[in-house]
Amino acid sequence: MNKIVVTGGAGFIGSNFVHYVYKQRPDWQIIVLDALTYAGNKQNLEGLDTNRVSLVEGNICDNKLVDNLVSQTDAVVHFAAESHNDNSLQSPWPFVQSNIVGTYTLLEAVRKHNKRFHHISTDEVYGDLELDDPNKFTDKTPYNPSSPYSSTKAGSDLLVRAWVRSFGVKATISNCSNNYGPYQHVEKFIPRQITEVLEGRTPKLYGTGEQVRDWIHAEDHSSGVLTILENGKIGETYLIGADGEKNNKEVVELILKLMGKDITDYQHVNDRPGHDMRYAIDSSKLRTELGWTPKYTNFTEGLKQTIEWYKNNPNWWKPQKTETEAKYAKVGQ
Ligand code: NAD
Ligand code: DAU
Repeated sequence: MNKIVVTGGAGFIGSNFVHYVYKQRPDWQIIVLDALTYAGNKQNLEGLDTNRVSLVEGNICDNKLVDNLVSQTDAVVHFAAESHNDNSLQSPWPFVQSNIVGTYTLLEAVRKHNKRFHHISTDEVYGDLELDDPNKFTDKTPYNPSSPYSSTKAGSDLLVRAWVRSFGVKATISNCSNNYGPYQHVEKFIPRQITEVLEGRTPKLYGTGEQVRDWIHAEDHSSGVLTILENGKIGETYLIGADGEKNNKEVVELILKLMGKDITDYQHVNDRPGHDMRYAIDSSKLRTELGWTPKYTNFTEGLKQTIEWYKNNPNWWKPQKTETEAKYAKVGQ
């Protein structure tokens, strides 16, 4: 394998994956297929040799374009999606279109051209856990998504499974927990709070802030995906997680502490309707069967580096900030 299409490669995790593969596999060619929605940014790919990484601006629902690109490649790694739960509550249609119809369009192309496919999904397809539940999500946990976003991701996973079973498509799936790191849009929890502090305002916690997320650095997600792409068993689902459970209040307090502020200097805002309480990943299958381990096991260290990145890159995030905060203000968040 030395030529891959990365859908959504100009977004947060997709671009982290492109940078990772660029370094780890110097003989690979990477074609990024990205519609450059509000979440995609060409700047995320700056500095990469354009002889090795090319950007095709286009939509994964465009079957002619997709068919043509897939025919020229060895494998497709599929990150492109509408990814933000809060947006899905205001306007679900783009989620159905990109996450379900887009995945269907790619599946039909890899089926026709008999290409390897890796589908990126989320732990949210499994619903949520109680705070005191001793169990974590595994690939055997029943699907029980809560939001329009997570239900469209669940739908896309099921399409992939059906295309494997019915048509013999050579696909794998990974379901990962909450990512953090560079290039994450300021609508998401961690960059929103960092940039609020940088702009002299206070972090905003939804509801009580007791909700737990299982944080993983985007570079560890990337190494997990590359491991599965190269060594995963066709038809299998692997969960990617780094044992990073923290509640939202703890994360806000840590951001304030690392940025030299009073740790009580945050505000509670309106809760998210249907807010999932807790996600937790059991990644032992990926670790034992494929030998993967995460590099960022110290969340404080990873968060410090992420804060530095936002401090050093105001030109990257400032253009997104005003519009994002205006959207939140409308719903009291
Ligand atoms: P993101 O919103 O930052 O980026 C999504 C990218 O996909 C953008 O570049 C956007 O332009 C592109 N895109 C959207 N619709 C498209 C379309 N129809 N055609 C072509 N390109 C399109 O998202 P992210 O946070 O980087 O998430 C990437 C993937 O990882 C998604 O599939 C998401 O479900 C999954 N995931 C995310 C997380 C997380 O914590 N962010 C965790 C687990 C899984
Ligand atoms: O679990 C994986 C999922 O993680 C991915 O599939 C999604 O694409 C990704 O967006 C993320 O979903 P969440 O909804 O968990 O992430 P978000 O960053 O929106 O919120 C994280 C938590 O923080 C959640 O409990 C809501 C809360 N929150 C969020 C924002 C933006 C706040 O308390 N305040 C905020 O301002």
